[in-house]
Amino acid sequence: MSGRPAIRVGLVIVAAGSGTRLGHDHPKAFVELGGRSLLAHALDRLASAADDVVVVGPPTHMEQALAQVERMGPGTRVVPGGATRTGSVAAGMAALGAVDVIAVHDAARPLVDAAALRRAVAAVVDGADASAPALPVTDTLKEVADGEVVIRTVDRASLRAVQTPQVFRAEVLHAAHARGVDATDDLALVEAGGGTVVLVPGSARYLKVTYPDDLLLAEAFLASGDHEERA
Ligand code: CTP
Ligand code: MG
Repeated sequence: MSGRPAIRVGLVIVAAGSGTRLGHDHPKAFVELGGRSLLAHALDRLASAADDVVVVGPPTHMEQALAQVERMGPGTRVVPGGATRTGSVAAGMAALGAVDVIAVHDAARPLVDAAALRRAVAAVVDGADASAPALPVTDTLKEVADGEVVIRTVDRASLRAVQTPQVFRAEVLHAAHARGVDATDDLALVEAGGGTVVLVPGSARYLKVTYPDDLLLAEAFLASGDHEERA
């Protein structure tokens, strides 16, 4: 990084979802993996690579969210999320201090590592409006219509599955949200505004815990040894 001005990285971890598909009776961010919550894993792995950290918690469970971040020491703040992921990202952005780039990470991806964040930040520093880790798609893809009838096979060579953290030039993310559309993916907001999004290598370990089987897979990755790279 020598010769470059220091880049201030703001990190928003969105943890306000309910986890309906996982099916636990408390929000997904507090579900445990190897004895610690998904949120605690994500926070521990990324916080050291950021200058300012905001956790967006479920409005109904703010005390629990606070308890998860307290041990990170002062500086990490917790704010209540919105009804949609986009609303939760906006709440996190509003609580961030002055930063050059904003990284948005899903608490539902507990086995992220700081290297992923640094790769995406580097792509933005190198000129992209936004960046995120991604993997080539390996399954055969079919487009279907009503009744699961196959219309065609989709060529997967140019397709990528995108993960988080997603990193943005701060003004680009603010402008994208100011346009007021809702999307499950902030990169889509940037693309819609004509911004350049450059993907960097992801990892199977950055999987999103969505269904109960994903938790089993994450447990196996955790037990297989820690490949994370510390910041
Ligand atoms: N999220 C959020 N606020 C919302 C909805 C989602 O902060 N209103 C966060 C989740 O906490 C999660 C990430 O966005 O870290 C990705 O969302 P997803 O995997 O869909 O989680 P949930 O919405 O909690 O799960 P489900 O859709 O199964 O209810
Ligand atoms: Mg959801």
